[in-house]
Amino acid sequence: MKLIYLLALGAVAACASPEPPTGAQLYAENCTACHGADGTGSGWVGAGLQRKPANLTTLSARNGGVFPMVRVLSTIDGFHRNPSFETAMPEFGSWFGGPMDQIELDGVMTPVPQPLLAVAEYLESIQVE
Ligand code: HEC
Repeated sequence: MKLIYLLALGAVAACASPEPPTGAQLYAENCTACHGADGTGSGWVGAGLQRKPANLTTLSARNGGVFPMVRVLSTIDGFHRNPSFETAMPEFGSWFGGPMDQIELDGVMTPVPQPLLAVAEYLESIQVE
């Protein structure tokens, strides 16, 4: 009886403080349909789009070898979207909210929601030379 009680308590505690999803998990859930599991833009939804999803493994290579963190964050978030820019890329800003991290962007300390940063850092980790 006591053991069952302890197990139940453990389950409650686990629910109260869930591990935040990693960047890789967030990517797998939200981005693979278009950008593909490997990030090269090979997703099954993306294949049917008029504007092909970008290859997300060459962001650095296409930016002089530097990961374009600010551009990536704002592209995912959607708040720097050029209004005249027709695109199928959804805005994830409102879905990727959460506790804020302070990171330095272009020399300025900037608050960024942790899930948004986690996805961007995941992308940084899959860059090819
Ligand atoms: C419905 C399809 C779709 C989904 C889902 C999607 N994207 Fe995109 N994404 C696109 C398309 C199409 C483009 C290329 C056109 C453009 O730049 O808007 C793009 C462009 C991008 C770019 C800009 C690449 C560059 O070269 O600057 C980034 C970064 C990006 N996506 C990240 C993500 C991430 C991270 C997710 C998941 C959170 C995601 N996308 C989900 C369709 C999608």
